[in-house]
Amino acid sequence: MFLFLSILIILIHQTNAQPGFLYNFCLNDKGNYTANSNYHNNLNTLLSNLSTNTQIDYGFYNFSYGLGNDKVNAIGLCRGDVKPDNCRSCLNDSRVLLTQLCPNQKEAIGWYDNCMLRYSNRSIFSTMESSPTFYMSNRGNATNVDQFNTVLTNLLNSLLSQASLGDSRRKFAIGNVTGPGFQTIFGLVQCTPDLSEQECSDCLVGAISQIPQCCDNKKGGRVVTASCNIRYEIYRFYELANVATSSPPPKVLPLPPSPTGNSSNSRTVLVIAIVVPIVAFVILVIIICICLRMRKSRKHIEDEAQNDDEIQSSETLQLDFATIMVATNNFSDANKLGQGGFGPVYKGTLSDGQEVAVKRLSVNSSQGDIEFKNEVLLVAKLQHRNLVKLQGFCLERKERLLVYEFVPNKSLDFFIFDQVKRAHLDWERRYKIIGGIARGLVYLHEDSRLRIIHRDLKASNILLDEVMNPKISDFGMARLFATDQTQGNTSRVVGTYGYMAPEYMLYGQFSVKSDVFSFGVLVLEIVSGTKNSGVHRGENVEDLVTYAWRNWREGTASNIVDPTLTDGSRNEIMRCMHIGLLCVQENIAERPSMASVLLMLNSYSVTLPLPSQPASFTNRRTLSTNPIHSEEYNSGATKSSSESQFQSVQASVNEASITEPFPR
Ligand SMILES: *[C@@H]1O[C@H](CO)[C@@H](O)[C@H](O)[C@H]1NC(C)=O
Ligand SMILES: *[C@@H]1O[C@H](CO)[C@@H](O)[C@H](O)[C@H]1NC(C)=O
Ligand SMILES: *[C@@H]1O[C@H](CO)[C@@H](O)[C@H](O)[C@H]1NC(C)=O
Ligand SMILES: *[C@@H]1O[C@H](CO)[C@@H](O)[C@H](O)[C@H]1NC(C)=O
Ligand SMILES: *[C@@H]1O[C@H](CO)[C@@H](O)[C@H](O)[C@H]1NC(C)=O
Ligand SMILES: *[C@@H]1O[C@H](CO)[C@@H](O)[C@H](O)[C@H]1NC(C)=O
Ligand SMILES: *[C@@H]1O[C@H](CO)[C@@H](O)[C@H](O)[C@H]1NC(C)=O
Ligand SMILES: *[C@@H]1O[C@H](CO)[C@@H](O)[C@H](O)[C@H]1NC(C)=O
Ligand SMILES: *[C@@H]1O[C@H](CO)[C@@H](O)[C@H](O)[C@H]1NC(C)=O
Ligand SMILES: *[C@@H]1O[C@H](CO)[C@@H](O)[C@H](O)[C@H]1NC(C)=O
Ligand SMILES: *[C@@H]1O[C@H](CO)[C@@H](O)[C@H](O)[C@H]1NC(C)=O
Repeated sequence: MFLFLSILIILIHQTNAQPGFLYNFCLNDKGNYTANSNYHNNLNTLLSNLSTNTQIDYGFYNFSYGLGNDKVNAIGLCRGDVKPDNCRSCLNDSRVLLTQLCPNQKEAIGWYDNCMLRYSNRSIFSTMESSPTFYMSNRGNATNVDQFNTVLTNLLNSLLSQASLGDSRRKFAIGNVTGPGFQTIFGLVQCTPDLSEQECSDCLVGAISQIPQCCDNKKGGRVVTASCNIRYEIYRFYELANVATSSPPPKVLPLPPSPTGNSSNSRTVLVIAIVVPIVAFVILVIIICICLRMRKSRKHIEDEAQNDDEIQSSETLQLDFATIMVATNNFSDANKLGQGGFGPVYKGTLSDGQEVAVKRLSVNSSQGDIEFKNEVLLVAKLQHRNLVKLQGFCLERKERLLVYEFVPNKSLDFFIFDQVKRAHLDWERRYKIIGGIARGLVYLHEDSRLRIIHRDLKASNILLDEVMNPKISDFGMARLFATDQTQGNTSRVVGTYGYMAPEYMLYGQFSVKSDVFSFGVLVLEIVSGTKNSGVHRGENVEDLVTYAWRNWREGTASNIVDPTLTDGSRNEIMRCMHIGLLCVQENIAERPSMASVLLMLNSYSVTLPLPSQPASFTNRRTLSTNPIHSEEYNSGATKSSSESQFQSVQASVNEASITEPFPR
């Protein structure tokens, strides 16, 4: 749905990049100023302060000067890995050059490799602007294009979510993946940090979607817009300085500038190249010592070693039982929101008036208190706009409670399967919900550092906030109960009949692709407004997936679409159904990753492969002789007919989760 309006797009190749800026625009239609006018003087004052301003130490500068019609606004942005001194000199070069090249335009923008400078009389802060845009591409062709594109897409989408979660000083991410032929693909994405998370994400999605126009099949390319930019190459074109974790602000080690950059500051290269290795070595030694010491004092999951942080958050996250008793009226029935797979959920109001949902875990965790606490702290770090936030926990009197943010508009199943309430969800909303769920899953699968597999994704686990933005709930439960398994076989199946991937249901094999399967079922349910378990058409009972596949193949796909959907483009609806069918394919390898799903949703220029045979529930029901869970399967399947019993807000009431996540 994202409309990318780029009015000014110029395609240039690396060889004919002009000296000075990579590219610049003087925007003639935005007004001119005359020499020595107020605007001119304000501009000079503002820009001359640029190189002395300390805000630049963060690689970002946003300032304005002047009053009324003569107010000038400027934004300077350095590439996230550029150190402050280079940043300053790059911006200093920019201001000189840009005012020379655009001697009387009120608005102008210029890009170097290392920085961007932009000014205007309009307010340009905190707004996402995708125009003007320019492209650059490497002249070399990529080998094994399809695989290259898949890997690249995954990389950029994962960087996208990482960068958009950055703080107000920096929204930047770099990373590499191994592509076809063991070559490494390096990627970089950046937004101006004054954008919101959503704006940054939208801007980058737009930029990524232009790769086919810009750099189709090339082994390197850039899409550069006013508010964000992306670049990928098969060599490392950025410095690894201070970006290892992408969180600390750039008060950092001096490191040599990019050896591959053809940038303006080659003068500084020699000096720095001599000094830096020595300094870097010393710093490295210090860091190693610190790390070793930390290791000694605490054994912890290796990718999350910010211990001081955690000790502190443990204190602030842990609530005592008495507080929760008061908040939930002693777990009164009146406060009960529903019964989820892991226990009942109560609405509570903390003493400061904040509303929360308290999940009282009724099952025994296999973990000791300390492990449980550590897991909660890790799960609490997962923060994304499409995930229900875990705000605290309680461990007392053998009780284990999880405290979540309260999400007011109940769950998706409450609307989508209800003859009347589904009218609240027109196509535009449904489409946004699909996109939001996809973003949340990409975060869980790829960006959160923990690689969480949800394992019980379903409509009742999708909560809706006051603006009907979807939030995934119950993620990380597998982590809270079982030992850490990111992929593997499990003898105990957690999940809900109708959403479970066949390999998981039958053999207990789970992976991110089993979540993709559940997502596919969910998309088909959202498009059709029907539950997967049992579509009755005449005397035939078919599950939705089979029904959708059959109609799709027979060219009658519009039969599947919810008849109450009167708005929205048929194309978009069909595309979603197509994506849904790709996700439920029987063949695990053919199911796309969530990152590719997100790209497919966002970009119409991505051609979708044809779906192959989906896994059939109808057949599997007879196949399902799994001794552990046969009763649960039945209850899951039959209960679905009693649709009326929805009381669920925070939890899954309707479809019984099959929960037996802990090995004995
Ligand atoms: C910027 O300048 C143009 C042309 O002089 C003018 O039309 C426009 O109103 C100005 N914008 C602001 C916000 O002052
Ligand atoms: C501004 O000046 C440029 C030449 O420097 C000219 O081409 C352009 O038409 C002028 N724009 C306006 C709005 O006067
Ligand atoms: C420019 O910088 C100087 C000194 O740093 C300061 O006194 C002056 O107020 C600044 N001017 C603007 C417009 O920020
Ligand atoms: C900025 O550029 C001007 C002109 O090139 C130069 O005279 C000045 O020393 C530079 N300032 C800094 C801080 O680099
Ligand atoms: C890249 O591929 C195009 C056709 O897809 C071809 O015309 C071009 O010569 C190739 N370039 C190189 C450098 O191999
Ligand atoms: C690729 O990224 C990993 C971290 O994800 C990093 O450790 C490694 O050094 C990078 N490789 C190169 C060649 O930059
Ligand atoms: C500059 O951007 C930061 C966020 O990055 C914002 O907090 C600040 O208000 C902005 N300054 C102006 C003058 O808009
Ligand atoms: C909750 O229970 C405590 C004792 O366990 C009791 O003192 C208190 O009155 C109860 N509160 C409510 C609202 O029932
Ligand atoms: C939990 O485990 C304890 C002992 O480990 C046992 O006594 C208790 O019955 C278990 N509770 C449940 C709900 O399984
Ligand atoms: C969602 O919640 C908000 C605030 O609680 C309410 O105003 C809105 O009507 C709700 N939307 C629906 C469709 O129920
Ligand atoms: C899971 O089990 C299958 C056979 O059921 C086996 O081929 C596979 O290697 C196992 N995977 C793991 C990670 O143990």
